[in-house]
Amino acid sequence: MMNRRLFVQGLSAATLAAKSMTSIAAMNVADPAAPAPVRLGIIGPGSRGKELIRNFLRVPGVTIVAAADVYPPRFQELNQLCGYTVASHSDYRTLVDRKDLDAIVVATPLSFHAEQVIAALESGHHVYGEKTMAFTVAEVNDVVKKVDAGKQIFQVGHQYRYAPWIQSAIDYVQRGEIGDVTHIYGYWHRNNDWRRPVPDPSLERLINWRLYNKFSLGLLAELGSHHIDIANWVFGETAHAAYATGSIAVYHDGRENDDNVQAVLSYSKGRRFVFSSLTDNAEVGNQLWIYGTKGSLNLTLEDAEFFYEPKRANRLPSKPGEKVKAITAGASYRPGGEMPYRGAGKRLDIPVTEDPTTTACRAFIECIRTGQKPVADAHIGMRSALSVITANQSLGARRELEVPAPV
Ligand SMILES: NC(=O)c1ccc[n+]([C@@H]2O[C@H](COP(=O)([O-])OP(=O)(O)OC[C@H]3O[C@@H](n4cnc5c(N)ncnc54)[C@H](O)[C@@H]3O)[C@@H](O)[C@H]2O)c1
Repeated sequence: MMNRRLFVQGLSAATLAAKSMTSIAAMNVADPAAPAPVRLGIIGPGSRGKELIRNFLRVPGVTIVAAADVYPPRFQELNQLCGYTVASHSDYRTLVDRKDLDAIVVATPLSFHAEQVIAALESGHHVYGEKTMAFTVAEVNDVVKKVDAGKQIFQVGHQYRYAPWIQSAIDYVQRGEIGDVTHIYGYWHRNNDWRRPVPDPSLERLINWRLYNKFSLGLLAELGSHHIDIANWVFGETAHAAYATGSIAVYHDGRENDDNVQAVLSYSKGRRFVFSSLTDNAEVGNQLWIYGTKGSLNLTLEDAEFFYEPKRANRLPSKPGEKVKAITAGASYRPGGEMPYRGAGKRLDIPVTEDPTTTACRAFIECIRTGQKPVADAHIGMRSALSVITANQSLGARRELEVPAPV
């Protein structure tokens, strides 16, 4: 069997044969505990791309070898981050053609994801591809088919799958801790215009791509995709229908994508995920409420808290035949305490030691080294992306649309 370290280096049997036994022995004997080297390339070392690289560099044995970007200042920024010179390419196709990379990170605007992920996979590389996985239903299906047909690792940037407090909390929920979950509400509210400063007007669409529908599916993709992934995880399935509405209520600055969005995704048995994103009020911040018949789970980016429903006392105790005085029992009011429980929740005691992106990056490298399948795989990416794309189409159609079935 091929030595794992050499396998990760991508050395063929012929190359192996050409190496002297002495040098192979030296590699293995030098430091048997040293992790197998993993050489990364990145397409789109912008804001998220550099954050991913920062995290990949924390993993022993990882080197950043090459980068591709259409905006040259990124190369210098990346070199500074790495502390060494990374080879630069203005066209991603020359990067994917390189033979000295084990894996490629794709962190470009959404509209480029599928094309670049597929090119990287076709050239034999493992891929870490940012969410939302792809821009159209056809592209989503193409990515999944390509991943399923090959042997390369593909991990999608749904890093909350790696968050220990979310994993544990969802495990509790799936074991019935809060009864039957019928509704999940996700809020991702911010108070900023989502704009980035542009050094030259000609760069507006490149830098502020999130605001334009040629490149981005707006708030549903950028923020909603994470919450949709969590809803899919809790419900154990993909939504079958999506309805969304939105508007430009605040920032009349030439943007095409809405500055607020509300969406309702329908799952089986009447279950629903309701998503809201505002960009002019950050009061609720980023949180999910998972509502069950016996309690609720509040998930934030830092913790998980359970709140239990009070026992239902629908009527005041009364002896048979005794009339309840001064109460008109009706559909809208019941004596017996229907007020919600306002006390403290039960916080899940899971120590949070690192950012889930750090864990996700380490997990990707581990998958490359061991050949294990990633937790956040192409099917997880597909399930979130299909709802994002359909909800976004619903914004234009102004009606509920069927979410295509996952392939
Ligand atoms: N998982 C997460 O939590 C998370 C967080 C933030 C962003 N993201 C995702 O990461 C991706 C990038 O977001 P960002 O905020 O870093 O954007 P960004 O604009 O900061 O970075 C994108 C980079 O891609 C480059 N680029 C644009 N078109 C290109 C092309 N055709 N070929 C090569 N390079 C190109 C840009 O010049 C830029 O450097 C998006 O898909 C976004 O949704 C994920």
